[in-house]
Amino acid sequence: MSDRKDLVLEGVRAYHGEVSPAREFVPGTTEIWPSGAVLDENDRAALVEAALEMRIAAGTSSRKFESAFARRLKRRKAHLTNSGSSANLLAVSALTSHTLEDRRLKPGDEVITVAAGFPTTVNPILQNGLVPVFVDVDLTTYNATADRVAAAIGPKTRAIIIAHALGNPFEVTEIAQLAEEHDLFLIEDNCDAVGSLYDGKLTGTFGDMTTVSFYPAHHLTMGEGGCVLTSNLALARVVESLRDWGRDCWCEPGENDRCLKRFKYQLGTLPAGYDHKYIFSHVGYNLKATDIQAALGLTQLAKLDSFIEARQRNWRRLREGLDGVPGLLLPEPTPRSEPSWFGFVITVDPEAPFRRAELVDFLEERKIGTRRLFAGNLTRHPAYIDQPHRIVGELTNSDLITEHTFWIGVYPALTDEMLDYVTASIKEFVAARG
Ligand SMILES: Cc1ncc(COP(=O)(O)O)c(C=O)c1O
Repeated sequence: MSDRKDLVLEGVRAYHGEVSPAREFVPGTTEIWPSGAVLDENDRAALVEAALEMRIAAGTSSRKFESAFARRLKRRKAHLTNSGSSANLLAVSALTSHTLEDRRLKPGDEVITVAAGFPTTVNPILQNGLVPVFVDVDLTTYNATADRVAAAIGPKTRAIIIAHALGNPFEVTEIAQLAEEHDLFLIEDNCDAVGSLYDGKLTGTFGDMTTVSFYPAHHLTMGEGGCVLTSNLALARVVESLRDWGRDCWCEPGENDRCLKRFKYQLGTLPAGYDHKYIFSHVGYNLKATDIQAALGLTQLAKLDSFIEARQRNWRRLREGLDGVPGLLLPEPTPRSEPSWFGFVITVDPEAPFRRAELVDFLEERKIGTRRLFAGNLTRHPAYIDQPHRIVGELTNSDLITEHTFWIGVYPALTDEMLDYVTASIKEFVAARG
């Protein structure tokens, strides 16, 4: 490293200390965010270093992040993308690849998913001309069950994509088993659950592919970013092709002849020897991330274990603090799971003497941030009303979530003092209406 660069980075670290003084917590005044990025001086220095080196496109840090993250999440391949939504788009689109031959998904094929969740778990199904089949979720885990998924399998079902709800694993051993029995692909949307375990195994390691988001609310952040992971090398190749314009070639940017056959291919009806760098085998996108994002990803990844522990500790503190409060349905981890929590979900009992809106207003007044369980019942949103879909069973709980559920934060920057203030505020509100 040059002396001048060392000096700049030293200055950046000092600057970080100056602009990030320890915040005093003032109850009712200090914002208690539901989520947010936790960034230290190493993160700031990594961003500046990438900028100093002008690594403005995908490059060495991206590759380094991909292999480190794949190792950490116990998958053979990781492909960095510009968002978790793009990761879901790539994973579902990969299932339509001609390279899968008879197993490829075709327009009109059905994909099972849940009604209550984030829209871009579902959108790639529609974007690929496939049909979402919605099932309901359970109330205190906020997840679909294997029974609900089994009931939804029909003659046109070819795949399943479900998110581990706010960090809480769905019954993924059982659902992976169902997928195998019925020859269905399984994609685990792990955007909110990095580090969660089910049956002692990491979520994201049960299905054919898994996806992650690096938006600031998530366990790790790159500002914007996402990842598709898989141990299926054929699917990994398709994901890479779709991410990188649909190209057939797998050379890194700047590389020219990794396969040693650059001018020796004859594909499609192209003339023999057409430059492999410009042969396209999929109708692709460009959904790559940059090295500036990946540089931040690498310093964030070094803190993943401590982030997971802090989220678990914070969740437990809220759970213990709120235990037994009347009128609230508190969250439960799915049996046999160890969640790496994203948030703390509360459903106001429809029979309670207060409504969600009143409790949320009370908390927001006190600067305690709340969020909805994303879209609630997606099928009730204007975007989906006229879209092809099938609903299996009643969406009773998804509707209840739409009307009565919200979540509060557990992210690592929240202190015990803040969490205790949240608990005390909720108790005070409930006691005044009891
Ligand atoms: C379950 C789930 N899937 C996908 C996404 C989309 O990720 P991104 O915001 O990076 O596009 C989110 C976003 O929060 C999410 O919660």
